[in-house]
Amino acid sequence: MEAIIRPNKESAAHLVGQIIAGELRRNPSLVLGLATGRTMEEVYRLLVNAHREKKLDFSLCRTFNLDEYVGLPPSDPHSYRYFMNEHFFSRVNLDPGNTHLPNGLAPNLDAECRDYEEKIKRCGGIDLQVLGIGKAGHIGFNEPLSALLSRTRVKALSPITVEQNAEFFGGAARVPRRAITMGVGTILDCRRCILLATGTSKAEVIAKAVEGPITSMISATALQLHPRCTVVVDEEAASKLQAADYYRWIFENEPEWEEFR
Ligand code: F6R
Repeated sequence: MEAIIRPNKESAAHLVGQIIAGELRRNPSLVLGLATGRTMEEVYRLLVNAHREKKLDFSLCRTFNLDEYVGLPPSDPHSYRYFMNEHFFSRVNLDPGNTHLPNGLAPNLDAECRDYEEKIKRCGGIDLQVLGIGKAGHIGFNEPLSALLSRTRVKALSPITVEQNAEFFGGAARVPRRAITMGVGTILDCRRCILLATGTSKAEVIAKAVEGPITSMISATALQLHPRCTVVVDEEAASKLQAADYYRWIFENEPEWEEFR
């Protein structure tokens, strides 16, 4: 794992956008794993701009989102399919048939989860997975105690996650109680992972995810096992990292990051 600290949330999102754009330019048929949430909005805005102004081409790109609420149709403004259409899919030249999210309305949810794993496999696996992190330490909706080798399945949302997302639904009581999510094991299979976190509200959980012991209580700690995972944070989210100076030193000295400095 490596951690990169940028001065603010805009520059942190900018770096993630640049990494995604670079991977897509190198491999136009990229299989791109996506996340929703507040943190990602800026990344999608930057990718849409790159498409419009720098001709970033998504025509051959395939996408797989991490998760979807159980029980919400794509037409529901709270569904993740709706979020993705609004913020990204409808604004770039992605083929809608190449965009995938789990179907939270599937009559057989277990079969839907197995099918989602199969679809990822048929595409050759995910090349680059973009991740946010929840206050409960989740990646996707892998809530505390998620098995570190879990696959796509239905998970009950933890009270912390329900609270985190309550404002979108006009109160905790309206937040769906379950979601389909890629498993921690599914995420660990992706060839490259980038986790983006910004703001002081994420500082504590980022310190645990990056520097704490690996535990299923904080599924993001499993990323320490991944051979190619980059955590990008702003100064606020980095404020509780013990070894921040070391991470800065690596970013300044590692040739891989030269083009991004
Ligand atoms: C969403 C997802 C979640 C979010 C996380 C952070 O698809 O997988 O893990 O990335 O809850 O959400 P925000 O960015 O709203 O703080």
